[in-house]
Amino acid sequence: MTFASTKLLAREARANGYAIPAVNIVDGISIAAVVRAADRAGSPIILQTSVKTVKYFGAEVLAGLARAAADAADVPVALHLDHCPDRAVITETIAHGWSSVLFDASDRPFDVARTETAEVTAEAHAAGVDVESEIENIVGVEDGVGSDDPNVHFYPDEQLVAVAEETGTDLIAPALGTAHGLYKASPVLLFDRVAALAALTDIPIVLHGGTGLSGEEFARFIDAGVSKINISTALKLAYMYSARDHLAEAERTGKWEPVRLFDQIGAAVEDVVTEHIALFRSGSRQEVSA
Ligand code: 13P
Repeated sequence: MTFASTKLLAREARANGYAIPAVNIVDGISIAAVVRAADRAGSPIILQTSVKTVKYFGAEVLAGLARAAADAADVPVALHLDHCPDRAVITETIAHGWSSVLFDASDRPFDVARTETAEVTAEAHAAGVDVESEIENIVGVEDGVGSDDPNVHFYPDEQLVAVAEETGTDLIAPALGTAHGLYKASPVLLFDRVAALAALTDIPIVLHGGTGLSGEEFARFIDAGVSKINISTALKLAYMYSARDHLAEAERTGKWEPVRLFDQIGAAVEDVVTEHIALFRSGSRQEVSA
């Protein structure tokens, strides 16, 4: 199976009242674990790559790892570039077959963001690649991209939708009160904003900063119209804590076996994804029992 279209997966999710988990992977272990969790639950899945991960492995190697996992899966798997303000990396990932890219123009003034988003969608669409667009600030620094300054750019709903429609954006990433990383204080979540945007447009709405929200909050966002939810920090923590625990145990027992380490990390990552698939109602078993 080749990569699925992120836009079509999100549209299908919105039509059927669930959200697609979009999970930031960091290597081959996490790619395999995320796809295994999706396959076991019968859920479509989006593998997300940060710019940092693309630069570390190189686009060719990373796309190759993701494609091998997608080919072996029975569920649709999309490959998505997360927050990318760098046009050269966008061009590179388009050339290497990513399903979609998030052009992050939240650091640009409105007119520049609009012009460049239109240029990126034209370039991506010519290669059959979908574009998620972000022109507002989602709080929190994600792998070196973003800002801790809230609401630097925040536009009226009608203006945000008009820009998305006029630039050919396939998915919108609005500011919804969530933040990347762990919450330092309780967020003020903008459920009503999702409903207002969803009433104005069919373009799928993406929720960033998924880590730390409750099942009830996810459900309210999905019911309001969110159809792609990004999860990164939860996976990173599961990955690193399981590695730490394994290494502490290896130190204690004197048994140093890398493949056992990979197994333990993979199982921890798989659990996190399985849990979110249930919360996002994207697995076939949840649909059947609903
Ligand atoms: P978290 O790190 O809060 O899960 O957010 C992930 C995200 O939105 C990636 O774009």
